[in-house]
Amino acid sequence: MTKMDELALNGGLKSKTSPYHKPNRYGDLERRYLMEAIDDGCLMFSGGKKVGQFEEAAAEKFGCKHVILTTSGTVAIQVALMACGVEEGDEVITTAIADAGTFFGILALHAIPVFAELHPETMGPDPAHVESLITSRTKAVLAVHMAGIVGDLDAFIAVGEKHGVSIIEDCSQAHGGKWKGQYVGSIGRAGVFSMNESKHMSTGDGGFVTTNDDAVARIARLYIDKTYARGEVRRGDEALLFAANNFRPNTMTAAVALAQLERLDENVARRDEIVQRYYRELGDLPHLAMPKAPDGAECAWWPLPVLYQSESPPREEIVAALVAEGLPVNTGLSPNQGNLHTKVIKAKRFYPYSDRLPHFLKDTKYDEWSCPTSDGIRRSVIRLPVDFRYTDQDIAETIAGIRKVWSHYFGSN
Ligand SMILES: Cc1ncc(COP(=O)(O)O)c(C=O)c1O
Repeated sequence: MTKMDELALNGGLKSKTSPYHKPNRYGDLERRYLMEAIDDGCLMFSGGKKVGQFEEAAAEKFGCKHVILTTSGTVAIQVALMACGVEEGDEVITTAIADAGTFFGILALHAIPVFAELHPETMGPDPAHVESLITSRTKAVLAVHMAGIVGDLDAFIAVGEKHGVSIIEDCSQAHGGKWKGQYVGSIGRAGVFSMNESKHMSTGDGGFVTTNDDAVARIARLYIDKTYARGEVRRGDEALLFAANNFRPNTMTAAVALAQLERLDENVARRDEIVQRYYRELGDLPHLAMPKAPDGAECAWWPLPVLYQSESPPREEIVAALVAEGLPVNTGLSPNQGNLHTKVIKAKRFYPYSDRLPHFLKDTKYDEWSCPTSDGIRRSVIRLPVDFRYTDQDIAETIAGIRKVWSHYFGSN
């Protein structure tokens, strides 16, 4: 065996010989729009121009009537739910595994998160399991397009129509994805996007709500702005329509968002090239299942979650071997171990200083192990690196490293 064939884990040469290409994703365009925001002389959304400009451009891009910029994706979920009429004690079906924002936005309204199994091919909530969880208290479903894989929106919309519940698309990991030619976020009653640093469009932190529903848009706008009816009433005459909050974005966030929107197509196209290569050049490896998007989906790939399907060697050993080769793979479909396994859910821990149970959760029972399929996925996921800045050489070395590890353990090459 040559030094090249030997695993780096065992002292061989690494497959990834140079750092991944990751230049600053922000540049002249962001600088220009930021300067314009500053030159406007008002950074508040209602005085500067940039928030309106972004919302208009994003609405045109995604083919929806309204875009409401917010301060994060988690907040966008909370706002969309409030605007779709979710109230205390209502149930909202979300996904067993994804960022905590996919249930914190629900809890913030004192609504009850209900967790649906992931589908092993799309990694998003399984529409059939979602339907089985619907009760007379269900008000909304958060259809999460996981890891850029666009879920079966026909199935979600059919469930929504049949049971009279709002379908809210969580597009946080799938900016620019399409379902049957239409952008995600323009199909459900509302869509939500996160623009934290890991996302296709990033403003560091930020988010937005999309909708074609005028009433939803109106409530969303009021909710993020303490229900101030700007321009409609005189100062001193605000009626304050319902209990709201301040989730207002500022114009600097909007300026960067506007620039990132212009970069989106290129970003998504490059991610697609990378992932298509993974499919072509890794698709034959044994014990490795690539995700399968439903017919009609045009994915906007994120790091690619593949399923490792062997007990021996354990996944942890495979991952350690890949990392030793210099590959930035990891095993988390979300930062936590799955929403049902968090203390917040399984112990219904709501407050920081006491374990007092809030009234709205008193009758809710969670079984930590009620989503076994999702737990199986969680235990077998390996996330392959996808970044629009990576060069062809980065991807070639990544693929070579994966094939080398597979060859060592399974004899293929
Ligand atoms: C699917 C999904 N929904 C919601 C969120 C929450 O977004 P934010 O971090 O902007 O609050 C995230 C963040 O990673 C996410 O991936």
